[in-house]
Amino acid sequence: MIPVNEPLLAQRELEYVSECVRTGWVSSAGRFIEEFEEKWATYCGRHHGIAVSNGTAALQVAVACLGLKPGDEVIMPTFTIISCALAVVYSGGVPVLVDCDPRTWCMDVTQIERKITPRTRAIMPVHIYGHPVDMDPVLHRSEKHGLAIIEDAAEVHGAEYLSGRNTNQPNCRRRGSFGSLSCFSVYANKLITTGEGGMVLADDAVLAKKARSLRNLCFQPNRRFYHEELGFNFRLTNLQAALGLAQVERIEEIIARKRWIGQEYNHHLADLKGLQLPVEEPWARNVYWMYGVVLSEETGMDATVFAQRLKAQGIETRPFFLGLHEQPVFHQRELFLRERYPVAKRIARQGLYLPSGLALTAEQLTEVCDAVRKALAK
Ligand SMILES: Cc1ncc(COP(=O)(O)O)c(C=O)c1O
Repeated sequence: MIPVNEPLLAQRELEYVSECVRTGWVSSAGRFIEEFEEKWATYCGRHHGIAVSNGTAALQVAVACLGLKPGDEVIMPTFTIISCALAVVYSGGVPVLVDCDPRTWCMDVTQIERKITPRTRAIMPVHIYGHPVDMDPVLHRSEKHGLAIIEDAAEVHGAEYLSGRNTNQPNCRRRGSFGSLSCFSVYANKLITTGEGGMVLADDAVLAKKARSLRNLCFQPNRRFYHEELGFNFRLTNLQAALGLAQVERIEEIIARKRWIGQEYNHHLADLKGLQLPVEEPWARNVYWMYGVVLSEETGMDATVFAQRLKAQGIETRPFFLGLHEQPVFHQRELFLRERYPVAKRIARQGLYLPSGLALTAEQLTEVCDAVRKALAK
């Protein structure tokens, strides 16, 4: 079976992790945590990095920093992982949804304005499968209405966006550099990994201090077992950060490999009818975190049947997200009932992603493409 993802770890990772074992710095203090935080923040053009135990925790910390009041609203795409909505619901807020763009599968930024109410506190853009959200309209809404931005950059390490393209000062910015707080996951299938892990990035020193405190049970610096706020234990270990630092040090090589995989798939699959491939908008650098495809209904198949045909040929795939508005757990809480998001609904049924891991070889990629061709021809 060609797996949908396989991480590619190297000698430096082994050296750094061995150093932790040799020196005994295996828990949540040690040089690798700070270096990992600093290097990743700098790479993304941010002042502060706060490493946490996973990407879901990063979102929870970021949303907790907003100090939502019960009923405060956060606008987000329906086409995303449940973590985005969980962070808001756990904070007593209400997720408010928009549909996604049929080309990039990221949030449809033209739908944000009509979802803004007096209760709206923030917008949460989520970059999908390696392609950035069109951020200028999001920044514009945020400025116009005084809303915070929590950027979910879990799937786009190193992706770039050309901001201000309609002005005479366009500016190429990395994902993770937008908004009040940006969140990353560094789970094993992400571009860089610590096994399980995440990071919150911020420029504002007060917000960064708050996030750091929330990560560690809101211990007081001068009075340890005295607490004035509700915190979490979302600490990352030095052992995990050792892996992360080694990965950050070769991020450009990792991005180049992901882009090679994306472009090879584009090249081999371009002539196939009935298959929508990922795009790279002129204002974006796609890092092809996962290579997604959407099947046309004219193929007579949905993604479940397509996945079965690929599995029968030894190819593992993953279905696209099922929209937040289709999740029973939210319906039970009276959320999103009778709301319609046709683009997300369609791609949830017709979309899947192909093997995209860093360890994928050229031969395996050709094998996947041959299998796709056969699955469509049946
Ligand atoms: C867009 C997005 N946000 C958040 C997360 C949550 O990250 P984690 O799995 O590290 O909790 C993921 C995970 O894949 C994700 O894809």
